Amino acid sequence: YRSLRVALLGGGSVGAQVARALLEDGDELSQRVGARLELVGIAVRDVDAPRSVDLPRELFTTDVDRLILGADVVVELMGGIEPARTHVLKALASGADVVTGNKALLATHGPELFAAAEQVGAQLYYEAAVGGAIPIIRPLRESLAGDRIVRILGIVNGTTNYILDRMDTEGGALEDVLADAQRLGLAEADPTADVDGYDAAQKAAILASLAFHTDVPVEAVHREGMRTVTAAQIASAARSGHVVKLLAICERLTDDDGRDGVSVRVYPAMVSRTHPLAAVHGANNAVFVEAEAAGSLMFYGAGAGGVETSSAVLGDLVSLARRHVVGGPGLAESKHADLPVLDIGQVTTRY
Ligand code: HSE
Repeated sequence: YRSLRVALLGGGSVGAQVARALLEDGDELSQRVGARLELVGIAVRDVDAPRSVDLPRELFTTDVDRLILGADVVVELMGGIEPARTHVLKALASGADVVTGNKALLATHGPELFAAAEQVGAQLYYEAAVGGAIPIIRPLRESLAGDRIVRILGIVNGTTNYILDRMDTEGGALEDVLADAQRLGLAEADPTADVDGYDAAQKAAILASLAFHTDVPVEAVHREGMRTVTAAQIASAARSGHVVKLLAICERLTDDDGRDGVSVRVYPAMVSRTHPLAAVHGANNAVFVEAEAAGSLMFYGAGAGGVETSSAVLGDLVSLARRHVVGGPGLAESKHADLPVLDIGQVTTRY
């Protein structure tokens, strides 16, 4: 086997789970790739800070530059714009591939990062940046790249969906449900990014850029938060067969002057109870894609969470590692697990 050196930047809830998987399931992942995925270090601000997962102390370092320069793949899970941007640019300039889950960075500096990657022939993967565990980036970037996407309707913020869902099912004022969500650790102490739609706007910019093959900066996204939604509005929506959801809407439009373009908006919208998005409860996310040839598709699942989101990061890592090994996803079909097909007859289950 060859070995691929993986450097992790950030030891938060997602980073710690990625590290745990690389250490515990490394053999299985390596078999799947055809190369060893070797975690060479985890760059953090404070080596002694408490972690959600018990990891070997010797992996932690504050020397980000040294870690980056010794890596084949850099996984950036620090969040925020600086110093993440500087580190990602440095990694790409050194020829390393990058996996990131950093929606703020992509939504504000995407074109700069993609240009830097292209210049050296490196890859930048970011499945974890939108919708946590939900595969939505690769479907838009690859599977649907031959189709024409007409519209995307997304529930891309779990915190606000949790709040609106509870207001819909149990009633209550937004500030009470929000306070309860904060007590339960489901909403941040400072809920601005979620409640005022900034988080959803960043994700909308990323989805629209991919879907419509154009640069959509986050400043171009029309954003209205959900702070002003009242219990009376939710009840009135319910009476007319609707539910209120904070939607990220990305669509192709022709304006009044006949110009073709795209419109990207985030606001609390009325969704018919018969629409699949109305069935997205709790803190889950879903992205409903309408494409000319494919028709309607929905991608649904956990939009956040350390373990859940680590799935998306690890998938990116496996894909990138396969490119290193065979120059493309050639090993995707490799049969190595040697698992027998079991004949257990008919099993009656209700689905
Ligand atoms: N604060 C985000 C949410 C986390 O509530 O969906 C995932 O980006």
